[in-house]
Amino acid sequence: MSKIAVGIIGLGTVGTGVLKLLMDDPRLRVKWVAVREIKRPRDIDLSRTRVTDNPLDVVNDPEVEILIEVAGGVGPIFELMRTAIERGKHIVTANKELIAKHGAEIFQLAQRNNVTVLFEAAVGGGIPLISTLQRGLQANRISRVAGILNGTTNYILTAMEDRRIGFEEALAEAQRLGFAEANPRDDIEGFDVAYKTTILASLAFGRFVDVESVYRQGISDITDLDISIAKEFGYRIKMIGLAERRPEGLDVRAHPMLLPVHHLLASVEGANNAIFISGSAVGDVMLVGPGAGQMPTASAVVGDVINLASALHLPDFAPYFQPAIDCEHSRACPIEDSESAFYLRFEASDTPGVIGNLGRAFETHNVSLHSLLQRGVTRDGAATIVLLTHPTREAGFAGALREIESQPTTRRIGIALRVFRQPA
Ligand SMILES: NC(=O)c1ccc[n+]([C@@H]2O[C@H](COP(=O)([O-])OP(=O)(O)OC[C@H]3O[C@@H](n4cnc5c(N)ncnc54)[C@H](OP(=O)(O)O)[C@@H]3O)[C@@H](O)[C@H]2O)c1
Repeated sequence: MSKIAVGIIGLGTVGTGVLKLLMDDPRLRVKWVAVREIKRPRDIDLSRTRVTDNPLDVVNDPEVEILIEVAGGVGPIFELMRTAIERGKHIVTANKELIAKHGAEIFQLAQRNNVTVLFEAAVGGGIPLISTLQRGLQANRISRVAGILNGTTNYILTAMEDRRIGFEEALAEAQRLGFAEANPRDDIEGFDVAYKTTILASLAFGRFVDVESVYRQGISDITDLDISIAKEFGYRIKMIGLAERRPEGLDVRAHPMLLPVHHLLASVEGANNAIFISGSAVGDVMLVGPGAGQMPTASAVVGDVINLASALHLPDFAPYFQPAIDCEHSRACPIEDSESAFYLRFEASDTPGVIGNLGRAFETHNVSLHSLLQRGVTRDGAATIVLLTHPTREAGFAGALREIESQPTTRRIGIALRVFRQPA
């Protein structure tokens, strides 16, 4: 059986892992590797492959049947993927941003050109999550997908809790140990989880969700005090991606939440990912494992490549495994229309009237208080107030928050976080 020629765009963390796994595969030949800086020393034997700094060399080679995109980013890479698909290449990508932002266009183009685009590594790293949703659970109507989809933020939150350290210290530690990138914005501000949740929602609900409509909140304002008080209230704080079918529409968001300590997701530690999928026939399924890293991610990429290569050898190959997604974009329903219980931390003057003012703001906006506590008084006379509400309309809480912020007794709003809601 002749070997299938593949090309790899990108030889960084993931690309190097992919090349390691493919080097000695009897079914495949890595004909090309494209990088940005060709002179950079590489930690891998490149004697059996051609190396270029022009990805078009790979895309224009008629012998290459499968293109592996592990470069990342969207601008030039999106253009390159379009050209490759038009040239009839099958694509395997780990690029969540690309699929979340341009999935509809990519899959339509792939269909027109009779090629397959696979993206198992784009969500959940080494966890076989996309194939589980697309194939293993296809007999189900999926009502909810919720999970810890970003190892960096989970590492930081776990470190803050375990060692009672602040956010900056935990971030620096994550960077030192290689769990966070030098520029951590995409992870800590929730973009990465928003991309992944958008992809999961599109697969689960069969409609491309507009990534711009997905509500996003990062973790950089969370303090070690929030983590310890949440614990006193019986919760752990986790960065969660949530996609849920609701009567009003699709609820898709990426933000930190307080999870009851006994919830299975609350016990997921460190850089791991975990995803809960609720299906009409199967019930609840939870997948846990390494959501990033060189070899786990390469495992998912190479799994896709082998699936494709096996199918290409079939006499009647037809593009397969393509997601059955309606390419019309749907917007996630506005966060203002949803309901949550809230955790709020703010600083107020340590004077009479604070609690009365708070009560008035909540009463005006129909928010009901669950618990309240006050922590310490600083030298300049500020007290930290922390509270939990009962489930309430998001718009009502937002109104109360604006009123609290404008009250003369309030010094500063610290953070407002939502409490994880179990499905009805
Ligand atoms: N790292 C993970 O754990 C992980 C997990 C899941 C998904 N992913 C996704 O996998 C992709 C790659 O991530 P990574 O961590 O491996 O990135 P990385 O370490 O930064 O590597 C990127 C590689 O792509 C090359 N490159 C960038 N732009 C290029 C271009 N226009 N033409 C040719 N080569 C180009 C770079 O070349 P030089 O080496 O010459 O600079 C580098 O080798 C991203 O989409 C990421 O989101 C990563």
